[in-house]
Amino acid sequence: MTFKRTTVTAALPYANGPLHIGHIAGAYLPADMYVRYLRLKRHEVAFICGSDEYGAAIMMRAKKEGISPKQIIDKYHAENKKAFEQFGISFDMYHRTSEPIHHETAQDFFKTLYEKGEFEEIESEQYFDETAKQFLADRFIMGTCPKCANENAYGDQCEKCGSTLSPSELISPKSTLSGAVPVLRKTKHWYLPMQKAENWLKKWILEDKKGIWKTNVYGQCRSWLENGLQARSMTRDLEWGIPVPLPHAEGKVLYVWLDAPIGYISATKEWAKQKGKDWEQYWKSPDTRLLHFIGKDNIVFHCIIFPIILKAHGDFILPDNVPANEFLNLEGDKLSTSRNWAVWLDDYMRDFPNRNDELRYVIGSISPETSDSEFTWKDFQARINNELVAILGNFINRILVLQHKYFEGKLQGLGKDRIDFTDENLRNATGKAYDLVAENLDNFKFKAALQAVMDLARTANKYLTDTEPWKTIKDSPEKTADSLNNAFLLAGHLATLFQPFLPNTSKKIFDFLNLKSEFFWDEELIFEANHEVKTPELLFQKIEDSEIEQQIAKLQESKKPVFKPETAKENIDFEAFTKTDIRTATILEAEKVPKTTKLLKLKLDTGLDQRTVVSGIAEYFKPEEIIGKQVCLLANLAPREIKGIVSQGMILLASDADGSLKFVSPEQAVANGAVVK
Ligand code: MF3
Ligand code: ZN
Repeated sequence: MTFKRTTVTAALPYANGPLHIGHIAGAYLPADMYVRYLRLKRHEVAFICGSDEYGAAIMMRAKKEGISPKQIIDKYHAENKKAFEQFGISFDMYHRTSEPIHHETAQDFFKTLYEKGEFEEIESEQYFDETAKQFLADRFIMGTCPKCANENAYGDQCEKCGSTLSPSELISPKSTLSGAVPVLRKTKHWYLPMQKAENWLKKWILEDKKGIWKTNVYGQCRSWLENGLQARSMTRDLEWGIPVPLPHAEGKVLYVWLDAPIGYISATKEWAKQKGKDWEQYWKSPDTRLLHFIGKDNIVFHCIIFPIILKAHGDFILPDNVPANEFLNLEGDKLSTSRNWAVWLDDYMRDFPNRNDELRYVIGSISPETSDSEFTWKDFQARINNELVAILGNFINRILVLQHKYFEGKLQGLGKDRIDFTDENLRNATGKAYDLVAENLDNFKFKAALQAVMDLARTANKYLTDTEPWKTIKDSPEKTADSLNNAFLLAGHLATLFQPFLPNTSKKIFDFLNLKSEFFWDEELIFEANHEVKTPELLFQKIEDSEIEQQIAKLQESKKPVFKPETAKENIDFEAFTKTDIRTATILEAEKVPKTTKLLKLKLDTGLDQRTVVSGIAEYFKPEEIIGKQVCLLANLAPREIKGIVSQGMILLASDADGSLKFVSPEQAVANGAVVK
C-alpha cells in the first residue's frame, strides 16, 4: 500500500425504514470486513456512515405513517444506529444529514459551485398541486402507465412493467397528496451540466480504471458514458431538505443526491473534531485513498455525479475505487421493504441472539459481488451446521478437550521454551492463507478471502484426523503433544485471520487459547512452553430445523396479500345515487354457463319479477351452495347480452385482498324487493 490512510464510506441509508440483510450484504458487511482488515494491518482508516434524512423518500414514509418527516428520521436514525452497533458494523462515525454541520457543508458546496459558474439556471414546467400548494416530486404523482396501462404507476416508475417514466408521460396524472389533478407550472432550478465532464470522466474511468474497478461497476459507468450525460437539476421544489443558499430561492432545497454524498464529508468533519484530527487530510490529501462501498443502485451517483461535484469544487480527491455489490435476493424473490419480504436485521438479532457472526459468515459466503445472489434459510442452516459447527467449531473443541485430557490444559515445550510449528506443510499452508486473504481482500473479493480462511480450518481439521493424537498417546505422548502444539498454532492463526470476518468468534477463540483478544496481521503468534489453555466451551450452536421452519413460516406470513383499497372515486350528488335501484332478491336457480370458467347463470326472485342475471362468480361459488341465498341486486342496470344470455341486473359483491368475492347481503332476511337506500 502506497497510501498513508484510507477514507472508507458506506452508503448513507435513508432513515425511513429498518435495515435488512440486503443492506448488509450490499454495502455494510463488505465495508466492515475491509475496514477491519485495514486496521489489522495497522493502516490508518476513517470509516464513515450515517443517516440520509432528506429527499422525497422520507416524505413518502412520513405521509404513509401520518407523522412528520422529523419524527420519521428521529425514529429510524436511532433504530438503525443501534442495529448497526449491535451487529458490530464498526463505523468510526455514524452521523446524520440533519445536523447543522452538514447543512453548512452542503450549502458551502452549492455556493462554491454556484460562484464558480458550474451550474446552469433552467426554467421548466413541473407538476404543481394547487390543493396542497406545492410542487410534486415524481413519486407523489400517480397515473396510468403509458406502456402497460397499470393505473397505479408512479411519476418515475411503473412497478408493474418496470418502465422508467417521467411524470409527464403518465395518463391522467393525480397528486397522491390531495388527489387533485396537478397542473404544470413554471419553476427555475440549478442544473449541473454533466455532459461537460464527459471527456475527463471517460479518461478517468474508462481508461484509468479499466481492469481495476469491478466489472459490474465499470460496465454501468461505460454504458452511462457511452449513452451521453445530460444536465441534471441539483435543486428541488420540496418542503423537506436543505434550503438552497441563494436569495430568491424560497421553497427550494438541495437535490438529495447533491446533499447526501456530501454527508460523508460532514461526518468526517464531525469525527475529526471529536478525535482532534484534521478532516481535510481525509478528503484532500493525495496520499489518502477514498473508497465508497455501495449497492448497485447507487453506482452512477458515486462514480459519475459525485466525482463531477468534487472536481468542480476543486481541492478534493476522487474515489480510488467504488466496490459496489449487486443485490441479494431472498427465497426466490427480490427483497422489498414495502412488501415486507425481508429478513430484518433487528428481528434476526432478536431471534438469534449472540449469533451475529453466523449471519456474517453466511452473507460473506454468498456475497453478491459480481451478480445477484440468493439467501435461503435452508442454506443458512447448512452453512452454519456443516461449516462453522462441523469444521471450525469441531476443531477448536477437539484440541481443547484433548489438551485437558492428556496434559492438564498445558502446552508441552518438548525441550523448548517457545512453541513453533514443527510441521512445514502446516507452516506453509498458514503462510499461504495470509497471502490469499490479503490478495483477495485487496481486490474486494470477500467470498474468496473468507473461503481461504475456511480452507485453512479444513486443513487444521484434517491434520487432527491424520495425526490421530488420541491414538499416538499410548505409545508416544510426545507425538500427541507435538500434534496438538501444531494444532494450537493453527487455531491462533485461524483466530487472527477470521478477525475481519467473524470478529466475535475470533475473540472467543483467543479467549479459549488464553491469549489477548486481538492480534495484528503481522504480530508474532507463539506460545510459551506450559501455556495453559481454557476448558472448552462450544464455539457455535447448531441451527435446529425448528428454528428454520419458524423463519420460513414468518416469511410466508408476509406473502399473504395485504388489502389495498382502490383510489377514491370522485364525489357524486345524492341525485346521482337515487338513480340506482338496488333491491334485495333471492337466488332461485344457479348453473354454470357452458364453455366459461367464471360465469354463473342465476334466476332471481326480485319481488317484482323473476329474472335472469349472469354473474362472474363461478370461481368462488358452487351453484348448489348459493341457491336460496338472499343478495342485493342493482336492478335497473340496462340489460346486457353475455354469452348469448340476456342478463338483467348485477349482483353486488365485495372483493377481498386476495381477489375473492363475497355477497353483500342483508344482515337478516327481509322481503324480496326491499329497496336498499
Ligand atoms: N440513501 C441512499 C440509498 O439508500 C444512498 C445514499 S448514499 C450517499 O439509496 F452517498 F448519498 F450518501
Ligand atoms: Zn407499466
